[in-house]
Amino acid sequence: MLNHRVRVAAMVAGALLAAPAVAAWAQGGTTATQTVDAMNQLWGRHPGIRANHAKGIVVEGSFTPTPEAAALSKASLFAGKPVPVTLRFSDSTGLPAIPDGVDDANPHGLSMKFHLADGGEMDVVANSLAFFPVATGEEFRDLLQALTVSGPDAAKPTKADQFIAAHPSVLKAFASASTPTSYARETYNGIDAFIFVDAAGKRQPFRFQFVPVAGAEHIAPADAAKQAPDFLQDELTQRLAKQPVAFRMMAQLANPGDQTKDPTQPWPGDRRMADLGTITITKVAPDNAAAAQALRLLPNRVPAGIEVSDDPLISARVQAYVISFGRRN
Ligand code: HEM
Repeated sequence: MLNHRVRVAAMVAGALLAAPAVAAWAQGGTTATQTVDAMNQLWGRHPGIRANHAKGIVVEGSFTPTPEAAALSKASLFAGKPVPVTLRFSDSTGLPAIPDGVDDANPHGLSMKFHLADGGEMDVVANSLAFFPVATGEEFRDLLQALTVSGPDAAKPTKADQFIAAHPSVLKAFASASTPTSYARETYNGIDAFIFVDAAGKRQPFRFQFVPVAGAEHIAPADAAKQAPDFLQDELTQRLAKQPVAFRMMAQLANPGDQTKDPTQPWPGDRRMADLGTITITKVAPDNAAAAQALRLLPNRVPAGIEVSDDPLISARVQAYVISFGRRN
């Protein structure tokens, strides 16, 4: 699966690398800048469009918490009353017209902004990988940069081949995501660990998971590529015209001693899943392009009662997202 993804990305990169100025421009700046530079180099820079997960659809709904959530965290999100939520389903890559069914569109994303009763906001940005290919922002930059110089004419083994050989979690992670029959029939994972803090100050590390009430369902790769280019967007629009779409918001709770800093390492499957509530999506946002542009999500935007863990990917993501916001202004 990733081989195909690497090949396509490398072909795009190969074409762009014909312009030496682009390669030079990609060298400077912070890790976050270099990461977004590499994304722009792989997939092109498109005005007003996200550097990654460029194609998507914004929808609206509400979240109703469970008492179990309120017992785990004092966050106002879990205080009892339903709150409005804006969500965006997306395809991977910075290609704004990527066909929904191609392998490179995996993993698909689900991001959300909760509009809290006190006027604050909480963001969660999840995708359909079971765990991440690399553990740090530096490694993610290195992977993307390796892809930019691994076009069809690159000497074998390419930089991407070498990176993948040295990081076995890359192939394993990408193999954990495939094309769903519907955005509404995919499980999305938070991947990074966060920490619940309850009213008494007790701390409980966890990872978010969003489970489709309709059940997860996937398409065989050979059939996925034959789907219409916008089939996931069209299917969701038609589904929502008939009925709401629901997800259970779950939290996988760490056992004492489980590590929280490495997003390439899932916790054992027997860890308790807490049921935090239901997201009910009712409609597609009216002016979708404007709604997508206005939606700026930060993986560390969490209220009192939820804290970031020692996972370095969270801060790496925040810094890269902010660079992307600036470029899509
Ligand atoms: C170091 C690791 C990562 C980097 C550098 C990175 C970078 C980015 C960037 C630059 C964007 C575009 C932001 C914007 O303009 O709004 C983005 C979007 C996105 N990323 Fe990441 N990402 C990383 C890891 C992850 C992980 C672990 C997940 C899932 C758990 C994820 C899921 C998404 C999703 C779903 C979007 C689309 C957000 C939206 O709908 O607005 N990313 N990422």
